[in-house]
Amino acid sequence: MKDITFSRRVALLGAAALPWIRAVKGQAKPKSVVISSANRNNGGVNCCAKAMEIIKGGGDTLDAVIAGVNIVELDPRDNSVGYGGLPNEDGVVELDASCMHGPSRRGGAVGALRNIKTPSKVAQKVLAETDHMMLVGEGALRFAKAAGFKEEDLLTEESRIQWLVWKRQMRDKNGHTNWESGIDAPPAAKKIGELKRLFPQADEALLEEALRNAANPPHGTINCIALNEKGEMSAVTTTSGLAWKIPGRCGDSPIIGGGLWLDQDVGGAGSTGRGEENLRVCGAHTVVENMRLGMSPKEAALDALKRVARNFDNDEKRLQAVDLNFYALRKDGEYAGASLWGTRNGRGPQFAVSTGDRESHHENCVYLFERK
Ligand code: GLY
Repeated sequence: MKDITFSRRVALLGAAALPWIRAVKGQAKPKSVVISSANRNNGGVNCCAKAMEIIKGGGDTLDAVIAGVNIVELDPRDNSVGYGGLPNEDGVVELDASCMHGPSRRGGAVGALRNIKTPSKVAQKVLAETDHMMLVGEGALRFAKAAGFKEEDLLTEESRIQWLVWKRQMRDKNGHTNWESGIDAPPAAKKIGELKRLFPQADEALLEEALRNAANPPHGTINCIALNEKGEMSAVTTTSGLAWKIPGRCGDSPIIGGGLWLDQDVGGAGSTGRGEENLRVCGAHTVVENMRLGMSPKEAALDALKRVARNFDNDEKRLQAVDLNFYALRKDGEYAGASLWGTRNGRGPQFAVSTGDRESHHENCVYLFERK
Protein backbone atom coordinates (compact mmCIF):
# COMPACT_ATOMS: atom_id res chain seq x y z
CA MET A 1 0.00 0.00 0.00
CA LYS A 2 1.24 3.49 -0.80
CA ASP A 3 0.78 6.87 0.80
CA ILE A 4 -1.65 5.81 3.47
CA THR A 5 0.15 6.79 6.62
CA PHE A 6 -2.52 8.70 8.41
CA SER A 7 -1.41 11.35 10.79
CA ARG A 8 -2.11 11.07 14.49
CA ARG A 9 -4.45 13.99 13.99
CA VAL A 10 -6.62 11.84 11.71
CA ALA A 11 -6.28 8.72 13.81
CA LEU A 12 -7.51 10.72 16.79
CA LEU A 13 -10.38 12.37 14.98
CA GLY A 14 -12.79 14.60 16.81
CA ALA A 15 -11.43 17.01 19.39
CA ALA A 16 -7.87 16.65 18.11
CA ALA A 17 -8.94 17.74 14.62
CA LEU A 18 -10.69 20.91 15.74
CA PRO A 19 -7.64 23.21 15.97
CA TRP A 20 -6.80 22.29 12.37
CA ILE A 21 -10.33 23.03 11.18
CA ARG A 22 -10.12 26.45 12.85
CA ALA A 23 -6.76 27.01 11.17
CA VAL A 24 -8.23 26.35 7.72
CA LYS A 25 -11.18 28.62 8.44
CA GLY A 26 -8.80 31.42 9.31
CA GLN A 27 -6.60 30.90 6.27
CA ALA A 28 -5.25 33.55 3.95
CA LYS A 29 -7.03 34.39 0.69
CA PRO A 30 -7.50 31.18 -1.35
CA LYS A 31 -6.01 30.92 -4.80
CA SER A 32 -7.88 29.73 -7.86
CA VAL A 33 -7.54 26.01 -8.55
CA VAL A 34 -9.34 23.69 -10.98
CA ILE A 35 -8.87 19.92 -11.01
CA SER A 36 -10.42 17.21 -13.16
CA SER A 37 -10.00 13.61 -14.26
CA ALA A 38 -7.47 13.21 -17.08
CA ASN A 39 -9.65 11.80 -19.92
CA ARG A 40 -8.51 11.06 -23.46
CA ASN A 41 -7.14 13.50 -26.01
CA ASN A 42 -5.97 15.87 -23.29
CA GLY A 43 -9.63 16.30 -22.32
CA GLY A 44 -8.97 16.98 -18.63
CA VAL A 45 -6.17 19.46 -19.28
CA ASN A 46 -8.34 21.34 -21.79
CA CYS A 47 -11.28 21.24 -19.38
CA CYS A 48 -9.25 22.74 -16.52
CA ALA A 49 -7.72 25.38 -18.79
CA LYS A 50 -11.18 26.48 -19.98
CA ALA A 51 -12.61 26.57 -16.46
CA MET A 52 -9.62 28.58 -15.22
CA GLU A 53 -9.98 31.05 -18.10
CA ILE A 54 -13.59 31.70 -17.07
CA ILE A 55 -12.69 32.01 -13.38
CA LYS A 56 -9.88 34.47 -14.17
CA GLY A 57 -12.34 36.47 -16.24
CA GLY A 58 -14.58 36.83 -13.19
CA GLY A 59 -17.08 34.13 -14.18
CA ASP A 60 -19.01 31.98 -11.77
CA THR A 61 -17.32 28.74 -10.69
CA LEU A 62 -20.28 26.58 -11.82
CA ASP A 63 -20.33 28.19 -15.27
CA ALA A 64 -16.58 27.56 -15.36
CA VAL A 65 -16.64 23.83 -14.61
CA ILE A 66 -19.65 23.25 -16.90
CA ALA A 67 -17.88 25.01 -19.79
CA GLY A 68 -14.81 22.90 -19.04
CA VAL A 69 -16.57 19.53 -19.19
CA ASN A 70 -18.62 20.64 -22.24
CA ILE A 71 -15.38 20.34 -24.24
CA VAL A 72 -15.21 16.65 -23.38
CA GLU A 73 -18.96 16.05 -23.73
CA LEU A 74 -18.85 17.44 -27.27
CA ASP A 75 -15.69 15.56 -28.27
CA PRO A 76 -16.76 12.40 -30.14
CA ARG A 77 -13.32 10.88 -29.52
CA ASP A 78 -13.97 10.57 -25.76
CA ASN A 79 -16.27 7.57 -25.77
CA SER A 80 -17.00 7.72 -22.03
CA VAL A 81 -18.73 11.10 -21.92
CA GLY A 82 -21.49 12.85 -23.89
CA TYR A 83 -21.56 12.67 -27.69
CA GLY A 84 -19.85 9.48 -28.91
CA GLY A 85 -20.21 7.73 -25.55
CA LEU A 86 -20.42 3.93 -25.64
CA PRO A 87 -24.10 2.97 -25.62
CA ASN A 88 -26.29 0.73 -23.48
CA GLU A 89 -27.04 -2.87 -24.47
CA ASP A 90 -29.65 -1.65 -26.96
CA GLY A 91 -27.12 0.56 -28.73
CA VAL A 92 -28.55 3.79 -27.28
CA VAL A 93 -26.29 6.35 -25.57
CA GLU A 94 -27.62 7.22 -22.09
CA LEU A 95 -26.02 10.03 -20.12
CA ASP A 96 -25.77 10.89 -16.41
CA ALA A 97 -24.60 14.18 -14.89
CA SER A 98 -24.72 16.14 -11.65
CA CYS A 99 -23.49 19.53 -10.50
CA MET A 100 -23.22 21.51 -7.27
CA HIS A 101 -22.88 25.27 -6.78
CA GLY A 102 -21.08 26.17 -3.58
CA PRO A 103 -22.28 29.78 -3.08
CA SER A 104 -25.99 28.90 -3.37
CA ARG A 105 -25.48 25.42 -1.87
CA ARG A 106 -27.71 23.98 -4.59
CA GLY A 107 -27.45 20.86 -6.74
CA GLY A 108 -28.98 19.43 -9.90
CA ALA A 109 -28.74 16.11 -11.72
CA VAL A 110 -30.01 14.09 -14.67
CA GLY A 111 -29.93 10.32 -15.09
CA ALA A 112 -30.37 8.04 -18.12
CA LEU A 113 -30.83 11.07 -20.37
CA ARG A 114 -30.88 10.27 -24.09
CA ASN A 115 -30.19 12.37 -27.19
CA ILE A 116 -28.75 15.51 -25.56
CA LYS A 117 -25.03 16.13 -26.11
CA THR A 118 -24.37 18.17 -22.95
CA PRO A 119 -26.12 16.56 -19.95
CA SER A 120 -24.09 18.73 -17.55
CA LYS A 121 -25.89 21.79 -18.91
CA VAL A 122 -29.23 20.11 -18.36
CA ALA A 123 -28.20 19.29 -14.77
CA GLN A 124 -27.31 22.97 -14.33
CA LYS A 125 -30.80 23.91 -15.56
CA VAL A 126 -32.35 21.51 -13.04
CA LEU A 127 -30.26 23.24 -10.35
CA ALA A 128 -31.06 26.78 -11.44
CA GLU A 129 -34.60 26.61 -12.80
CA THR A 130 -36.50 23.94 -10.90
CA ASP A 131 -37.43 23.08 -7.37
CA HIS A 132 -36.15 19.53 -7.96
CA MET A 133 -32.76 17.95 -7.55
CA MET A 134 -32.82 15.14 -10.12
CA LEU A 135 -34.69 14.24 -13.30
CA VAL A 136 -34.31 10.92 -15.10
CA GLY A 137 -35.15 9.20 -18.37
CA GLU A 138 -38.09 10.42 -20.43
CA GLY A 139 -38.87 13.22 -17.97
CA ALA A 140 -35.29 14.51 -18.15
CA LEU A 141 -35.43 14.51 -21.96
CA ARG A 142 -38.75 16.36 -22.01
CA PHE A 143 -37.36 18.90 -19.56
CA ALA A 144 -34.23 19.37 -21.70
CA LYS A 145 -36.30 19.89 -24.85
CA ALA A 146 -38.55 22.36 -23.06
CA ALA A 147 -35.41 24.22 -22.00
CA GLY A 148 -34.34 24.50 -25.64
CA PHE A 149 -31.81 21.70 -25.96
CA LYS A 150 -31.64 20.02 -29.37
CA GLU A 151 -32.41 16.30 -29.57
CA GLU A 152 -29.69 14.45 -31.52
CA ASP A 153 -28.45 10.91 -32.12
CA LEU A 154 -25.35 10.58 -29.93
CA LEU A 155 -24.06 7.32 -31.41
CA THR A 156 -20.99 7.85 -33.58
CA GLU A 157 -19.84 5.37 -36.20
CA GLU A 158 -16.95 4.34 -33.90
CA SER A 159 -19.27 3.73 -30.94
CA ARG A 160 -21.69 1.79 -33.15
CA ILE A 161 -18.88 -0.50 -34.34
CA GLN A 162 -17.71 -1.07 -30.76
CA TRP A 163 -21.28 -1.96 -29.75
CA LEU A 164 -21.58 -4.49 -32.61
CA VAL A 165 -18.21 -6.05 -31.68
CA TRP A 166 -19.50 -6.42 -28.10
CA LYS A 167 -22.70 -8.10 -29.35
CA ARG A 168 -20.67 -10.55 -31.43
CA GLN A 169 -18.55 -11.46 -28.41
CA MET A 170 -21.64 -12.59 -26.47
CA ARG A 171 -21.70 -16.35 -27.06
CA ASP A 172 -23.32 -19.43 -25.64
CA LYS A 173 -21.22 -22.22 -24.13
CA ASN A 174 -20.69 -23.69 -27.59
CA GLY A 175 -19.34 -20.43 -28.86
CA HIS A 176 -22.44 -19.63 -30.87
CA THR A 177 -23.69 -16.11 -31.53
CA ASN A 178 -26.68 -15.06 -33.63
CA TRP A 179 -24.54 -12.21 -34.92
CA GLU A 180 -22.59 -14.34 -37.37
CA SER A 181 -23.71 -16.71 -40.08
CA GLY A 182 -24.27 -20.42 -39.44
CA ILE A 183 -24.57 -22.57 -36.33
CA ASP A 184 -21.15 -24.02 -37.18
CA ALA A 185 -19.49 -20.70 -36.35
CA PRO A 186 -16.04 -21.25 -34.82
CA PRO A 187 -16.02 -20.86 -31.03
CA ALA A 188 -12.74 -18.95 -30.75
CA ALA A 189 -12.74 -15.28 -29.82
CA LYS A 190 -12.86 -13.13 -32.93
CA LYS A 191 -9.48 -12.17 -34.27
CA ILE A 192 -8.69 -8.72 -35.54
CA GLY A 193 -8.43 -10.07 -39.11
CA GLU A 194 -12.03 -11.24 -39.14
CA LEU A 195 -13.23 -8.01 -37.56
CA LYS A 196 -11.36 -6.08 -40.24
CA ARG A 197 -13.23 -8.04 -42.89
CA LEU A 198 -16.53 -7.28 -41.18
CA PHE A 199 -15.79 -3.62 -40.52
CA PRO A 200 -13.47 -2.53 -43.37
CA GLN A 201 -14.13 1.12 -42.57
CA ALA A 202 -12.66 0.77 -39.06
CA ASP A 203 -8.96 1.06 -38.31
CA GLU A 204 -7.16 -1.63 -36.33
CA ALA A 205 -6.72 0.48 -33.20
CA LEU A 206 -10.50 0.93 -32.97
CA LEU A 207 -11.13 -2.80 -33.37
CA GLU A 208 -8.52 -3.67 -30.74
CA GLU A 209 -10.13 -1.19 -28.36
CA ALA A 210 -13.54 -2.66 -29.19
CA LEU A 211 -12.34 -6.15 -28.23
CA ARG A 212 -10.88 -4.82 -24.96
CA ASN A 213 -14.09 -2.96 -24.18
CA ALA A 214 -16.22 -6.01 -25.01
CA ALA A 215 -14.26 -8.04 -22.46
CA ASN A 216 -14.00 -5.26 -19.85
CA PRO A 217 -16.81 -2.73 -20.30
CA PRO A 218 -15.36 0.68 -19.35
CA HIS A 219 -16.94 3.43 -17.22
CA GLY A 220 -15.05 6.59 -18.19
CA THR A 221 -16.56 9.89 -16.93
CA ILE A 222 -15.19 13.38 -16.25
CA ASN A 223 -15.32 15.12 -12.88
CA CYS A 224 -14.23 18.75 -12.47
CA ILE A 225 -14.00 20.86 -9.30
CA ALA A 226 -13.12 24.56 -9.06
CA LEU A 227 -12.18 27.11 -6.40
CA ASN A 228 -11.83 30.86 -6.98
CA GLU A 229 -10.03 33.57 -5.04
CA LYS A 230 -13.23 34.48 -3.20
CA GLY A 231 -13.36 30.96 -1.77
CA GLU A 232 -16.31 30.01 -3.96
CA MET A 233 -16.42 26.45 -5.22
CA SER A 234 -18.45 24.37 -7.70
CA ALA A 235 -18.22 20.89 -9.17
CA VAL A 236 -19.65 18.72 -11.93
CA THR A 237 -19.52 15.07 -12.98
CA THR A 238 -20.75 13.86 -16.38
CA THR A 239 -20.63 10.49 -18.14
CA SER A 240 -22.15 8.08 -20.61
CA GLY A 241 -21.76 5.51 -17.85
CA LEU A 242 -20.96 1.85 -18.05
CA ALA A 243 -20.69 0.58 -21.61
CA TRP A 244 -23.34 -2.02 -22.61
CA LYS A 245 -25.37 -1.38 -19.45
CA ILE A 246 -28.98 -2.41 -18.95
CA PRO A 247 -31.08 0.52 -20.21
CA GLY A 248 -31.97 2.77 -17.30
CA ARG A 249 -28.89 1.92 -15.25
CA CYS A 250 -27.57 4.97 -13.40
CA GLY A 251 -24.08 4.87 -11.94
CA ASP A 252 -22.59 7.20 -9.34
CA SER A 253 -22.18 10.26 -11.59
CA PRO A 254 -25.75 11.60 -11.26
CA ILE A 255 -25.97 10.74 -7.57
CA ILE A 256 -25.28 13.80 -5.46
CA GLY A 257 -23.20 12.47 -2.59
CA GLY A 258 -21.91 9.54 -4.68
CA GLY A 259 -20.18 10.74 -7.84
CA LEU A 260 -20.11 14.34 -6.63
CA TRP A 261 -20.27 16.29 -3.39
CA LEU A 262 -19.32 19.81 -2.46
CA ASP A 263 -19.59 22.02 0.59
CA GLN A 264 -17.49 25.11 0.06
CA ASP A 265 -16.99 25.43 3.83
CA VAL A 266 -14.78 22.35 3.42
CA GLY A 267 -14.17 21.36 -0.22
CA GLY A 268 -15.42 19.18 -3.03
CA ALA A 269 -14.91 15.67 -4.36
CA GLY A 270 -15.91 13.56 -7.32
CA SER A 271 -15.21 10.24 -8.92
CA THR A 272 -14.62 8.28 -12.09
CA GLY A 273 -14.67 4.52 -12.53
CA ARG A 274 -17.01 1.78 -11.38
CA GLY A 275 -19.98 3.65 -9.97
CA GLU A 276 -21.51 0.68 -8.21
CA GLU A 277 -18.51 0.36 -5.89
CA ASN A 278 -18.41 4.07 -5.25
CA LEU A 279 -22.10 4.11 -4.31
CA ARG A 280 -21.49 1.40 -1.72
CA VAL A 281 -19.28 3.86 0.20
CA CYS A 282 -21.13 7.08 -0.76
CA GLY A 283 -17.69 8.11 -1.97
CA ALA A 284 -17.69 11.83 -2.76
CA HIS A 285 -19.59 12.68 0.42
CA THR A 286 -17.25 10.45 2.42
CA VAL A 287 -14.19 12.22 0.99
CA VAL A 288 -15.53 15.68 1.85
CA GLU A 289 -16.58 14.63 5.34
CA ASN A 290 -13.12 13.11 5.86
CA MET A 291 -11.63 16.50 4.96
CA ARG A 292 -14.06 18.19 7.36
CA LEU A 293 -12.67 15.97 10.09
CA GLY A 294 -9.12 17.00 9.34
CA MET A 295 -7.74 14.66 6.70
CA SER A 296 -5.80 16.10 3.77
CA PRO A 297 -7.42 15.60 0.32
CA LYS A 298 -5.01 12.73 -0.29
CA GLU A 299 -5.76 11.03 3.01
CA ALA A 300 -9.50 11.63 2.62
CA ALA A 301 -9.66 10.05 -0.85
CA LEU A 302 -7.46 7.10 0.11
CA ASP A 303 -9.65 6.46 3.13
CA ALA A 304 -12.73 6.26 0.87
CA LEU A 305 -10.85 3.81 -1.36
CA LYS A 306 -9.97 1.74 1.70
CA ARG A 307 -13.69 1.47 2.42
CA VAL A 308 -14.19 0.12 -1.11
CA ALA A 309 -11.43 -2.43 -0.51
CA ARG A 310 -13.06 -3.39 2.79
CA ASN A 311 -16.25 -4.28 0.89
CA PHE A 312 -14.14 -6.93 -0.86
CA ASP A 313 -12.49 -8.07 2.41
CA ASN A 314 -9.34 -6.39 1.06
CA ASP A 315 -9.02 -9.26 -1.43
CA GLU A 316 -6.73 -7.78 -4.08
CA LYS A 317 -7.60 -10.56 -6.52
CA ARG A 318 -11.29 -9.69 -6.55
CA LEU A 319 -10.49 -5.98 -6.48
CA GLN A 320 -8.49 -6.34 -9.73
CA ALA A 321 -11.76 -5.91 -11.61
CA VAL A 322 -12.56 -2.62 -9.89
CA ASP A 323 -11.36 0.63 -11.40
CA LEU A 324 -12.17 3.64 -9.22
CA ASN A 325 -10.69 7.13 -8.74
CA PHE A 326 -11.49 10.08 -6.50
CA TYR A 327 -10.56 13.73 -6.98
CA ALA A 328 -10.61 16.10 -4.01
CA LEU A 329 -10.12 19.87 -3.73
CA ARG A 330 -10.09 21.54 -0.32
CA LYS A 331 -11.20 25.11 0.28
CA ASP A 332 -7.60 26.21 0.89
CA GLY A 333 -6.56 25.00 -2.59
CA GLU A 334 -4.90 21.74 -1.56
CA TYR A 335 -5.93 18.92 -3.89
CA ALA A 336 -5.36 15.28 -4.79
CA GLY A 337 -6.29 12.55 -7.23
CA ALA A 338 -6.42 9.06 -5.78
CA SER A 339 -6.87 5.72 -7.49
CA LEU A 340 -7.59 2.24 -6.24
CA TRP A 341 -4.82 0.90 -8.49
CA GLY A 342 -1.43 2.21 -9.44
CA THR A 343 0.36 1.05 -12.56
CA ARG A 344 3.22 -1.44 -12.59
CA ASN A 345 5.85 1.29 -12.97
CA GLY A 346 4.99 2.67 -9.54
CA ARG A 347 2.88 5.57 -10.81
CA GLY A 348 -0.77 6.25 -10.30
CA PRO A 349 -3.04 7.17 -13.16
CA GLN A 350 -3.07 10.88 -13.89
CA PHE A 351 -5.47 13.73 -13.27
CA ALA A 352 -5.52 17.31 -14.57
CA VAL A 353 -4.79 20.51 -12.64
CA SER A 354 -4.79 24.22 -13.37
CA THR A 355 -3.57 26.58 -10.67
CA GLY A 356 -3.75 29.74 -12.70
CA ASP A 357 -0.06 30.53 -12.25
CA ARG A 358 0.94 27.43 -14.26
CA GLU A 359 -0.27 25.91 -17.54
CA SER A 360 -2.98 23.32 -17.11
CA HIS A 361 -1.12 20.02 -16.71
CA HIS A 362 -1.23 16.39 -15.53
CA GLU A 363 -0.21 15.15 -12.09
CA ASN A 364 -0.07 11.61 -10.73
CA CYS A 365 -2.76 10.15 -8.50
CA VAL A 366 -1.77 8.50 -5.26
CA TYR A 367 -3.03 4.95 -5.06
CA LEU A 368 -3.91 2.13 -2.73
CA PHE A 369 -2.76 -1.03 -4.53
CA GLU A 370 -0.13 -1.69 -7.16
CA ARG A 371 -0.83 -4.03 -10.08
CA LYS A 372 1.52 -6.99 -10.00
N1 GLY B 1 -18.62 6.39 -12.80
C1 GLY B 1 -19.42 6.24 -13.92
C2 GLY B 1 -20.37 5.13 -13.88
O1 GLY B 1 -20.18 4.17 -13.17
O2 GLY B 1 -21.34 5.19 -14.60
